[in-house]
Amino acid sequence: MTQLRAVFLLGTIVCVFPFAHAYKFVDLSHPLSPSTLYWPGVPTFNRTRVMGGTNENNVWIEVGVFSSGEHGGTHIDVPRHFIRDGYDLKDFPLERTVAEGVMVDCSDEAAANYDYAVTVEKLTQWEEEHGRIPDEAAVLLNFGYASKFSDHNAYLNTQDPSDASTFHFPFISADAAQWLVDNRKLKMIGMDVPSPDAPISSTYPTHLIFLPKNILIMENVNIPDSLPPRDFRVHSSPLKIEDGTGAQTRIYAMLYEKMDGGSARLCMQSSVLFVASLVVASAVVDILTGGRIRG
Ligand SMILES: *[C@@H]1O[C@H](CO)[C@@H](O)[C@H](O)[C@H]1NC(C)=O
Ligand SMILES: [Zn+2]
Repeated sequence: MTQLRAVFLLGTIVCVFPFAHAYKFVDLSHPLSPSTLYWPGVPTFNRTRVMGGTNENNVWIEVGVFSSGEHGGTHIDVPRHFIRDGYDLKDFPLERTVAEGVMVDCSDEAAANYDYAVTVEKLTQWEEEHGRIPDEAAVLLNFGYASKFSDHNAYLNTQDPSDASTFHFPFISADAAQWLVDNRKLKMIGMDVPSPDAPISSTYPTHLIFLPKNILIMENVNIPDSLPPRDFRVHSSPLKIEDGTGAQTRIYAMLYEKMDGGSARLCMQSSVLFVASLVVASAVVDILTGGRIRG
């Protein structure tokens, strides 16, 4: 019986091992170019080639220089953005930049109301459907805005993308932000709009709820329709800039691949066959040796 159990365990390991390491990468960053959306007044992205050509050994070498405001495009905010002695990019703990991801789909609400604010009820409803937000989570709020990112007027619901007082986009209510901080253990919060606060706010209540808790804020995240509500990891590790208050970041999700019905069945069948053939083989050995080997 011990032998049989060992054989079955081996079969299971052989079967599950290749799948345990399967991930699907999903890019959550928009590209950076001179036309990438930045908040009014923040210097936009600019890259120039400063070196480019073949050297004396005919080897091609190219170098560019770029400049950029810290807060524009897909980027993160660290505490120093709003807290004078808060962590800068250099000191922000690296372990807080990788987290278990969940996606809260608010796209219907946001489509119906461009001033929509995520409520506590929305979050508890999500949990009723998908389970509790895990500890150490990265919560992504999906307003369905990522596909509008390159159309500045549509993304900001304005006729004048240079005047922030005219902007409208969905955000997270201070109540919901406070509920997350008080009742769940977040590492990061992200959204597919420029800010977790209402665009016209100059008191920044949600920034001031998340940043003192060292919760990384990810803004203008490129959230695709295909991102599942859970079962993925979020990576959002920025450049290590001394005194930096935020930076453009390659944010991405690693989806845990699940076996589809077909491969699961195939795996089960081969496990059973594998175990069965070992049982038969050991029985044959028993018969041929008269049980001497197993003693
Ligand atoms: C972009 O950077 C280059 C090199 O530093 C500079 O010469 C150029 O004026 C900059 N362009 C803009 C639009 O800022
Ligand atoms: Zn920012």
